[in-house]
Amino acid sequence: MAKVICPGSFDPVTNGHVDIITRAAALFDEVIAVVVVNPGKSPSFTVAERIDMLKKSTAHLPNVSIDSHSGLLAGYVKQIGAVAIIKGLRAMSDFEYEFQMALTNKKLAPEAETIFLTTSIDYMYLSSGLVKQVAAFEGDISAFVPAEVLGDVELRLRGRHLAEGD
Ligand code: PNS
Repeated sequence: MAKVICPGSFDPVTNGHVDIITRAAALFDEVIAVVVVNPGKSPSFTVAERIDMLKKSTAHLPNVSIDSHSGLLAGYVKQIGAVAIIKGLRAMSDFEYEFQMALTNKKLAPEAETIFLTTSIDYMYLSSGLVKQVAAFEGDISAFVPAEVLGDVELRLRGRHLAEGD
């Protein structure tokens, strides 16, 4: 049974994330989408909320489960015995950072490969940050996030720009 992980901040989950998870689920026996606490980011959603949204968005995929982890990704890889870390690549701008992370993870957990899936063309431009900005200004995000979490994301982010003083 080849077990792989799809790690990320998922703050919030987007259609681009679900696309990568879905494609990973078609390639591997077991996929764990893991909400990783990224110390460089201040999230808009709690870990529990991000887990809940990922569960709703992937409920139709029987070989996908959701987890969370704080600490090194390499530690999680070892803990669960994953054979690969699956990441989506949208553009060259993603590459340098992802390449650096892949090489670091390979050094820390040599037993796992990092596998990059090219983004689907429909989601090339999409990011959680963009979703947050559009939602904060009450724009339509229905093309960006799974229908199952649209209400959750809108409710949390609507009017967020007002709280930041601009
Ligand atoms: O969705 P993101 O924010 O691009 O995901 C990045 C994430 C969370 C996968 C990455 O920051 C991560 O793995 N963080 C855990 C800490 C760690 O292992 N750092 C060293 C890896 S190079």
